[in-house]
Amino acid sequence: MAILLNNHGYDNASWQAALAELLPEQDVFLFADMTPARRQQVEYALVWNHPPGDLAEYPNLKAIHLLGAGTEAVDADPATPDVPVLRLVDPQVLEDMARYALYWVLHFHRRFGVYAQQQSQAHWERHNLCASEEFKVLVLGLGMVGKTVARRLAANGYKVLGWDRHQAELAGVESYCGDDMPLAQADMVINCLPLTPETRHMIDAELLGQLPEGAVLVNISRGEVLVDSDVIDALSHGPLSRAVLDAFSTEPLPADSPLWRHPDIHITPHMSGATYARSAAKLVVDNIHRIEQGEQPFPLHKPGRFTNNNKV
Ligand code: GLV
Repeated sequence: MAILLNNHGYDNASWQAALAELLPEQDVFLFADMTPARRQQVEYALVWNHPPGDLAEYPNLKAIHLLGAGTEAVDADPATPDVPVLRLVDPQVLEDMARYALYWVLHFHRRFGVYAQQQSQAHWERHNLCASEEFKVLVLGLGMVGKTVARRLAANGYKVLGWDRHQAELAGVESYCGDDMPLAQADMVINCLPLTPETRHMIDAELLGQLPEGAVLVNISRGEVLVDSDVIDALSHGPLSRAVLDAFSTEPLPADSPLWRHPDIHITPHMSGATYARSAAKLVVDNIHRIEQGEQPFPLHKPGRFTNNNKV
């Protein structure tokens, strides 16, 4: 058996080292070094943003393990073979994303940006603020990311409203679903929605127009869930006071994007949840062992067709 590794150019070396330690018997082939003979040997594909069509070219593939949580790239590739597709959802990464959200909630609730500006002018002025339990944060999407974010904010004393397409109960969080999205109450909105045909461009002028004056938008999911030009309009002429963007329709964000230079936008380079190769590789390898032993791997995105060699 061999493994195909394509971490989309990010940190292949740490993944190779972690896999060599956890699966010392296995060959790990980088996508850049793939040959027709190696394609025959590959049983597990560990990939992120892999070129469309390529995964159909491994005749002995047993499973595809994504090296991230988002599934939109394999979902959009009609040539994705009918084998189990697994997501990588590392609890450490979820917690990092939740801390990223908490950082920005603290930043805006406690007005740290305002105080940084005041310091640059040697200006002493203390601003009134509401108690944290009155500061309302709306988390859009209550999947694994959204749940972790909502719990973390609630545990830090904030008033958390959670919205999902379907009803989701979460202790300490006021839950909404379907058409009932409490935008008018939200001091901040944290977008944690996955990118699907339903969520593409969901955060548009109409949705943003329902927010109260001064609201802040944070996007830690996918750029395509937002209409960028509507976000810019809502900052200039609508209720938004600031936007924090960590994910973009095109990454890296092109240098000529107007988002870079907007004074009310904070940009980070898709780092809200960094993947740690050591802990993530352990999750992937545990799943490979599960598949080899005929057990159910998780989290399973698509069960796929089971091959003779694959008892899942
Ligand atoms: C990163 O964006 C992921 O989906 O894991």
